[in-house]
Amino acid sequence: MNYHRLLCLALLVGGGCSLKPPHSETLSSLPRSVPAPADNPTKPEAVELGRALFWDPILSGDRDVACATCHHPDFGYSDGLAVSVGVGGRGVGSARAAGPGARVGRNSMSVLGTAFNGLSVDGAVPPEAAPMFWDHRTASLEAQALGPIKNELEMRGSAFSEDEILDELVARLTSIPEYVAKFEAAFGAEGVSATTLAKAIAAFERTLVPTPTSFDRYMAGDDGAMTASQIRGMHGFIGQGCARCHSGPMLSDFKLHRLPVAPSGAPDLGDGMGQFRTPSLRMITLTAPYMHNGTVTTLDESIDFYHNLEVTSPLLEGDVEPPLGGGDDLRAFYEAISDGTFDRTIPERVPSGLPPGGT
Ligand code: HEC
Ligand code: HEC
Repeated sequence: MNYHRLLCLALLVGGGCSLKPPHSETLSSLPRSVPAPADNPTKPEAVELGRALFWDPILSGDRDVACATCHHPDFGYSDGLAVSVGVGGRGVGSARAAGPGARVGRNSMSVLGTAFNGLSVDGAVPPEAAPMFWDHRTASLEAQALGPIKNELEMRGSAFSEDEILDELVARLTSIPEYVAKFEAAFGAEGVSATTLAKAIAAFERTLVPTPTSFDRYMAGDDGAMTASQIRGMHGFIGQGCARCHSGPMLSDFKLHRLPVAPSGAPDLGDGMGQFRTPSLRMITLTAPYMHNGTVTTLDESIDFYHNLEVTSPLLEGDVEPPLGGGDDLRAFYEAISDGTFDRTIPERVPSGLPPGGT
């Protein structure tokens, strides 16, 4: 079901079936099948290897940080911090304390549903071209996975250079028989390499997809799946122009926009023009703080953020109005797009014997 049908259902609030919404404002349910590139089908052996690698701090220069340090299931596969703490930090999630080094400059994005990055009202993009990061600087989960590994502040540290780190990791993994066996099971003769390492992590990430939410069930035709307040919240969301950007099955157009987000830390120009990607709002109740630099702390603050934008702001083309019901309905709608379940497995051990998720 799309927004047009919703409008028809909304005759009660004075909509009308003839008012076809602009194509770009359509909301829809998430597809059930997850796309994968032809050269990296989502095989169970690759997924299990990817899970081990995702949790194993052996992928960081000083063996202290894992992907899961900043993408933890207890925080919706984000980290609960305004901006992430990588190398030199201690602890997990919002309790993680920074070490003496610099913090990562940005808010961790959830990896839940990144398998669908690029899927918008205009259709899907091939997995090889799926946009990644707040500024779209990388395409595909495979290419993304090597980014944090090579990044000095996130995982690499200073013991190895950017040119050395991948060879170092391949050597480390090759020295652990359990990893060698897992790579062979997943990739046969390709064995352990930076390419297969990235493929395994990407295959695992493609399984981190939320089960259908109340919103998905409603969109699929179950009219009782959302409460009256959630439905009003969705209409308010569309009516205020939010779905001009937060559209499609991921509630994102996967385009870059410039919003007046308060600066923090070093200046960040996003794509170079001050633009950042419209984030998906799926699982939004679990992934505070918000915005590329985490300056919006709670969902209530995010409602105030849009409230405080000039009603005439050219950014929002003038139709953002105070939320209906003082924001209660919008909060209810956020619950409806966040109540899916997802894989919260925390492995008890990883093949390196290091603490899963790092220190
Ligand atoms: C120190 C914290 C940290 C670590 C460690 C880390 N990430 Fe991230 N991750 C981030 C931040 C911050 C962003 C957003 C960065 C940006 O946009 O510049 C991000 C973005 C991403 C994205 C993009 C999501 C999207 O929707 O575009 C993916 C996928 C991802 N990380 C996966 C991984 C994987 C895989 C690893 C391990 C190899 C990893 N991350 C390690 C903090 C971290
Ligand atoms: C012009 C496109 C556009 C419109 C319209 C828009 N947003 Fe956004 N939204 C964005 C972008 C871009 C960001 C990230 C901005 C940044 O970090 O610099 C964002 C961030 C958010 C976030 C934080 C998400 C996160 O994970 O950090 C929420 C919540 C949100 N928007 C809700 C709304 C609501 C509610 C409306 C309607 C009142 C709305 N948006 C209208 C583009 C838009």
